[in-house]
Amino acid sequence: MSGIVGYAGSKDALPVVIGSLKRLEYRGYDSAGIAYQNGKGIEIFRTRGKIADLQDALPSPLPEARVGLGHTRWATHGIPSERNSHPHRSAGVAVVHNGIIANYRKLKSELMSEGITFSSDTDTEVIPHMISRNLGLGLPLKKAISETVSRLRGTFALVILSETHPHTLFALRRDRPLVLGIGTDEYFIASDVCAILPHAREFVFLEDGQICTLTVNGFEIEHLETQGPAPVKRQSVTVDWAPAAAEREGYDHFMLKEIHDQPRTVADTFDEWIKNPQSLLDESGLSPNMTLGLRRLQMVACGSSYHAALIGRFLIERFARVSVDVDIASEYRYRDPIVDNGTLLLSISQSGETADTLAAQRAAKKRKIKTLTLSNVVGSTSSLEADAVLYTRAGPEIGVASTKTFTAQLTVLTLFALALGIRRGTLSLKEANTVKSRLMEIPEAIRAALQKDAEIRELAATLLQSRGFLCLGRGINYPIALEGALKLKEISYVHAEAYPAGEMKHGPIALVENGLPIIVLAPRDDLFEKMALSMEEAKARGGRVVGITDTVEALPGSVHDAIAMPSTHHLLWPFVSVIPLQLLAYHIAVLRGCPVDQPRHLAKSITDE
Ligand code: M6R
Repeated sequence: MSGIVGYAGSKDALPVVIGSLKRLEYRGYDSAGIAYQNGKGIEIFRTRGKIADLQDALPSPLPEARVGLGHTRWATHGIPSERNSHPHRSAGVAVVHNGIIANYRKLKSELMSEGITFSSDTDTEVIPHMISRNLGLGLPLKKAISETVSRLRGTFALVILSETHPHTLFALRRDRPLVLGIGTDEYFIASDVCAILPHAREFVFLEDGQICTLTVNGFEIEHLETQGPAPVKRQSVTVDWAPAAAEREGYDHFMLKEIHDQPRTVADTFDEWIKNPQSLLDESGLSPNMTLGLRRLQMVACGSSYHAALIGRFLIERFARVSVDVDIASEYRYRDPIVDNGTLLLSISQSGETADTLAAQRAAKKRKIKTLTLSNVVGSTSSLEADAVLYTRAGPEIGVASTKTFTAQLTVLTLFALALGIRRGTLSLKEANTVKSRLMEIPEAIRAALQKDAEIRELAATLLQSRGFLCLGRGINYPIALEGALKLKEISYVHAEAYPAGEMKHGPIALVENGLPIIVLAPRDDLFEKMALSMEEAKARGGRVVGITDTVEALPGSVHDAIAMPSTHHLLWPFVSVIPLQLLAYHIAVLRGCPVDQPRHLAKSITDE
């Protein structure tokens, strides 16, 4: 969604702001803008298009400033255009905003009835006008801001520049992330840590109801309403993501880099816990009573994180013998699920900012059940609000398509299932050790799977004309079929359906016609014979069967293309089988000329319902 960056410090602000905006490009945007104070007043430059277009619109050399503000906009209210781009201004005040002001129509008509003229179609523009109006009534700036905010409905992260305070930025939030970065003689505010990674290692995640003031000399966090000091509940955290982790490092796209990162990110994620998986339970903050008394686990997530949850269900039911429900978060939040004091909600979200997942987590809290979250981002909203937290250690994921965070989620879920099983006495140490040692081999297995990149690129070239795909799996591999289909849809813009293979006869088989690519996940497990039958049936109806397997020689002759993958423990095969599907979607997308890292209509985290 929209991205925000603010800078106050000893360096030239504008190059820093522009560099930071570029690191937010991955979130998806359609226009960009900056603001700074030029000694006489606030200067704003905005444009529809990319940061490069904004740079073209800026004077050269760039004006000097110690305090600056930037924004990338993802249109919600008003078409992408210069006039709707942020920052928005009113006399002496400029504002950037991420979120939605739900009651902006009412506020706008109130302001218009007072003779205020609007120059955009956005919801945001009411904010600078209201602050200016309050200043005009004689309120001091922070009071003018808090009075304004008290009238806003909806969600927002705001950063404000005012001519009354030429060397200062004001930042505040409600249900949208804002992070303060502390550098050496410089301070940053951003919607996302990635924007400011090269400049700061220490971060404070702002909380709702606080206002943060940044100047070239320091920062201050206060209660917005009382304007007294706000005890920061959570101290600053150190984020150990290397700045290079947010760079492409020679790969054509972030997605490809992130696919190839997976041997390392899986290993980084299990590293700390593999010797003693139970340490993961202790670290999460879940009490022994909660884990021993656990009767029902409700997992909620969206997109790829939902697919990881579906795989987690197999592992947790198998090892820990706990009953598991998995819900799409946007469905769970409107259900009335049955819960008791033995119920735990586990939300999975790489960003920790997905609106539906947060709403589901909050709904669980309202029902007075404990919440655990699994996130990739230290300090994300889900991690701040949950009772217990687990982190994947995948580093920043920039491509919109989830790849390395998906396998990192599988890693934590595997260890979580083992740890629960050991603690609850439902899993023998012998079996736990077997799974652990197979998990330690997964980075190598993924490396071997990645060796098939060129082969998969060739296969992709032969599938370019196909407008539809079917992906089939069974058991723990069915969620991988779903994940493969999602990748094809979001990155390659081709229609793809995933089915549990056993469901084909109940309708979808009617779709099979000459040449339809049918990707079948067929490891040599208990269900292999059934998968082989599905391949025969698909072939008999003209389908082009692409078999992904660990035993090519056992595949039936009906298979048109076979992709050989390494074998592993049957419950860990999803780590391996997802790799060719990620690569296939990637190569089809590249060959079709799709913008792989920023697919149309999508953003990295979906912070609106
Ligand atoms: O940050 P989250 O894990 O909560 O995001 C959930 C989905 O939006 C996300 O997985 C999305 O489906 C990806 N684009 C999939 O590649």
